[in-house]
Amino acid sequence: MKFFVDTAETSEIRELNDMGMLDGVTTNPSLIAKSGRNILEVTKEICDIVEGPVSAEVTATDFDGMMREAAILSKIADNICIKVPLTPDGLKACRMLTEDGRQVNVTLCFSANQALLAAKAGATFISPFIGRLDDTGLEGMELISEIRTIYDNYGFETQILAASIRTVNHVKQAAMIGSDVATVPPAILKALFKHPLTDKGLEAFLADWAKTGQKIV
Ligand code: E4P
Repeated sequence: MKFFVDTAETSEIRELNDMGMLDGVTTNPSLIAKSGRNILEVTKEICDIVEGPVSAEVTATDFDGMMREAAILSKIADNICIKVPLTPDGLKACRMLTEDGRQVNVTLCFSANQALLAAKAGATFISPFIGRLDDTGLEGMELISEIRTIYDNYGFETQILAASIRTVNHVKQAAMIGSDVATVPPAILKALFKHPLTDKGLEAFLADWAKTGQKIV
């Protein structure tokens, strides 16, 4: 499973990229607002750090407006992936942009039928929002499972990008189901490294090693 990081904070992106963990980045209008940066400047900086797809979201809600914004966002870098909402106009823009050879991430997916429509519109990625479904009392991970089944039934090449990830368990479950990608907040990505027995084991090894008085270098 590929890892994207879900943030517009360039220091976090740089740190995770240096660890060799990043296959891409997703941003959205809320994350850009949180960064306090200009969308074009910060997105360009992100594209210079990471080789993989960097999702930049349109903010227009009509087809013509989305296409105008997509034209500007596309010029930022070759690895820009245009993010469009799962609406009729968004899917029309998705079809047009993919026919033009752009990568497209269809966002705000909350049902398997919506994911089916996005695949038929030629989306590169579909973003089902796990955490936000959990928040409503539903089981967000079931949606990943349903989409996996539907896409495999028909050989759709649209990649499932598990989004709105809130816990390390979400990451594990998405990987077990066979999600192609998970976009994960930086803190959760860093938490994946952690296990108390790793820390305890390392401490014991180092204590025993110190007793030998040896040095490898
Ligand atoms: C995905 O691309 C979205 O940016 C993101 O995962 C939304 O997550 P949230 O529900 O934590 O805002």
